[in-house]
Amino acid sequence: MIDPKALAGRFPSDFMFGVATASYQIEGAAREDGRKPSIWDAFSHMPGRTFNGDSGDIACDHYHRLDQDLDLIKELGVETYRFSIAWPRIIPDGRGPINEAGLDFYDRLIDGCKERGIKTNATLYHWDLPLTLAGDGGWAARSTAYAFQRYAQTVMKRLGDRLDMVATFNEPWCIVWLSHLYGVHAPGEKSIDAALAALHTMNLAHGLGVEAIRQEAPDVPVGIVCNHQAIEPASDRAEDMAAVERAFQFHNACFFDPMLKGEYPADFMAAYGERMPEIEDGDLQTINQKLDWWGLNYYRPMRIAHDGSPDAAFPAARETAPVNNVLTDIGWEVYAPSLGKLIKQLYDRYDLPDMYITENGACYNMEPVDGVVDDAPRTEYLSEHISVCADVIDAGIPLKGYYAWSLMDNFEWAEGYRMRFGLVHVDYETQERTIKDSGKWYKALAETFGTTE
Ligand code: NOJ
Repeated sequence: MIDPKALAGRFPSDFMFGVATASYQIEGAAREDGRKPSIWDAFSHMPGRTFNGDSGDIACDHYHRLDQDLDLIKELGVETYRFSIAWPRIIPDGRGPINEAGLDFYDRLIDGCKERGIKTNATLYHWDLPLTLAGDGGWAARSTAYAFQRYAQTVMKRLGDRLDMVATFNEPWCIVWLSHLYGVHAPGEKSIDAALAALHTMNLAHGLGVEAIRQEAPDVPVGIVCNHQAIEPASDRAEDMAAVERAFQFHNACFFDPMLKGEYPADFMAAYGERMPEIEDGDLQTINQKLDWWGLNYYRPMRIAHDGSPDAAFPAARETAPVNNVLTDIGWEVYAPSLGKLIKQLYDRYDLPDMYITENGACYNMEPVDGVVDDAPRTEYLSEHISVCADVIDAGIPLKGYYAWSLMDNFEWAEGYRMRFGLVHVDYETQERTIKDSGKWYKALAETFGTTE
């Protein structure tokens, strides 16, 4: 385990350490103050969709414990907090009336951060699509992009004067592929056509969203948070190496090429062009917006082998088993070098602005013993990955901040509450919060950094 003080010394003075959360994973209060259901409320209440039938109905009850949780963030000594805003609190039917009580909650959240000297980084969409919009086709329907534009406008009009940073979307890959092709996340579709439609709608919504944000709050730096896959070839055989490029187009470039270059990748279009929804005149220009920053969420590498089976769809590649046998409790391979490689690869390939690691962390499910949560493997994971961040800066990449996922244990989507990523343990019976050993280590890092900068 790396000494937090030595590690802190490797970062430049304008760097920021933070913690991250997302609305549906922590807030609870699912039916309060005018909030209406999202696709995750519906999905989590369907049999068999989440572990144990868990839902975000109560979650960490953060909605009622806002001040206590903001105190906790302060206690951790971090400079910035990344959270998401729940669309179903702001415009409960997706379009139509605005719910002032929903905006009030985020007003209090942002003011609470300001009072404590904590910077704010808001994500507009972290997967809680108002359920009514699902009835109109959800992300597969073009109209959802325009509903998002109005939602972005509404939020920025009210909160934009006090936000330090804003992102349109969290993890396009999950919104598109995990939710519409692999069926693991809401709405649980398993259709390439639905996924391709969602891809274009979401990309368009991002572009429209950036325009709306700039109109309402031109001073707030705007970006997007992506979980681009760190694709590693399963072997150095030529066919596996070739599969890596196809996989890159499928998993990463179908988002970043339109956003940063105004076009969909060529091989991807050769495979799917005919099944894509209509790309209207001007769409690609709308999607291709200059960004002020971008965020990378990184947890693990994706190892890819060529798959020559006759019915293997593009990218004709399959994921293979981890080569490195260190796994977290959710079964994800621990391999920090891929983080550095991916970042360098992305800067080689695209003209990118400043970046942040907007999420990084590990799932370990240790429970408190006499008030202590000994989660040494999480500390190990964090220290290895944060060291890679320092290496990346040394290599000249404009990496400006790091957010640990997550502030506290929370609703881990299809995995329910059994998988814990927090720096702070949550007892879901009592809602008691206990700072884990990893949280104490991160606090030492953030506080040393804060005093040496
Ligand atoms: C990424 C997602 O943004 C977040 O919601 C999730 O909990 C973490 N990964 C861990 O899976």
